[in-house]
Amino acid sequence: METGILTEPQTNFTLNLEALNLEEEILALKKKLNAVILAHYYQESEIQDLADFIGDSLELSKRAASTDADIIVFAGVHFMAETAKILNPSKKVLIPDLNAGCSLAEGCPAPVFKKFKELHPDHIVISYINCSAAVKALSNIICTSSNAVKIIEQIPKEQKIIFAPDKNLGRYIMKKTGRSMLLWDGSCIVHETFSDRKILLLKAENPNALLIAHPECEEAILNRADFIGSTSALLRFTYESDANEFIIATEEGIIHQMLKKSPHKKFIPAPPNSSCACNECPYMKLNTMEKLYLCMKDQKPEIILDEEIRIKALKPIQRMLEMS
Ligand code: 13P
Ligand code: SF4
Repeated sequence: METGILTEPQTNFTLNLEALNLEEEILALKKKLNAVILAHYYQESEIQDLADFIGDSLELSKRAASTDADIIVFAGVHFMAETAKILNPSKKVLIPDLNAGCSLAEGCPAPVFKKFKELHPDHIVISYINCSAAVKALSNIICTSSNAVKIIEQIPKEQKIIFAPDKNLGRYIMKKTGRSMLLWDGSCIVHETFSDRKILLLKAENPNALLIAHPECEEAILNRADFIGSTSALLRFTYESDANEFIIATEEGIIHQMLKKSPHKKFIPAPPNSSCACNECPYMKLNTMEKLYLCMKDQKPEIILDEEIRIKALKPIQRMLEMS
């Protein structure tokens, strides 16, 4: 090799992510940025393991409302990160993948929902948190799967209610509270995939297993379930229960925490109708360790909200926090 030859400095520097210890890099960035990492139970297990807090939608909103970190890194889907931004306008809210949406939020476009609402002026709107900031801005109260029944029970009996966007959760609340509501016709692509027939076969093969289900599941599954609850409630049920076997009718990511809490117990993911991996939320799984690292390194993608919508969306979230 010749010596003494000056070469051009390398300008096309590409980051070799494979050479990095992503966990160490993320933890170092977290310290440097004074950031907090909030993660939902449906995130991949490595992300769950390094998050500062893992929870269901209600717990994550509460954490977002009370954090003193400068930057919130939201390892979850867009509506969750958006809720964090609504509650913390002066903080930077980052999400690993801006395309991490939700079929419920996407199935309820604000302009169409506004027209629907205008057709029923004597109704108040209670919206499930799985909706866009623009739909929240059109709502009177927000709820999550863990406080929906409690919130509806506080509404005077004679008050008419529109419930959006999840018809399965809406139907479940109607059954629990005995009151009727006008339901938006939306559903979750993950929770409506579970096969009642295959669950029945699984129950026959595992007679001691309890079926536990998220209220976004279809009615047939909920009717068969031994316990129904939010992701946190399902997790709590598995470690508090005397049972040792469970069929899990929600996104399979939560099994990571169930196994951590009860390593000796058996958790069987509820089977989807076809042989796809449809019990994985394709939106949640867009977030990876690589994207988590890059979003913290580059401080983007960032959640940016129109201030008028943010202020309107804040009120129904605050009402939820007061009522739950
Ligand atoms: P939880 O609030 O129960 O965590 O549910 C969020 C969600 O998106 C379920 O699909
Ligand atoms: Fe939305 Fe369903 Fe994914 Fe939950 S599991 S984030 S409701 S698409």
